[in-house]
Amino acid sequence: MVRIKFIKENKEVEAALGSNLRFKAQENNIDIYTFVGKLTQCGGYGQCGTCVVDIIEGVENLSPRTAVEEKKLRKRPSSCRLACQTVVQGPISVETKPDKKASLKKAKAEAAQAKAATTTPEASEPASAAAE
Ligand code: FES
Repeated sequence: MVRIKFIKENKEVEAALGSNLRFKAQENNIDIYTFVGKLTQCGGYGQCGTCVVDIIEGVENLSPRTAVEEKKLRKRPSSCRLACQTVVQGPISVETKPDKKASLKKAKAEAAQAKAATTTPEASEPASAAAE
């Protein structure tokens, strides 16, 4: 059994290893859909993208993102998942209905950090190397 903490709802639930996150949320009366999501959700088939959650802790304890998630969540940070596509494999903390603007900001910061990590820092070369 693993622990799933729903932060906004201040509720912790137990789940079997391999549980589907959307199913566990619904089973425990956790509302993962916004108003529009309630009207347009696909029933957990990975088609609508309305079951977005942000994993605050334990993202490493989940199944890898699916191809559908990569497509639907391309403007969201790597911590965001589609609950219906997510299999729980360890303890996690979840934020339901994450704010879109905050998510976009977090995704941009993540992209900038990744870009900075891949660029070669020429300025940090030792002075002795330049003198040779
Ligand atoms: S419920 Fe439609 S994508 Fe998850």
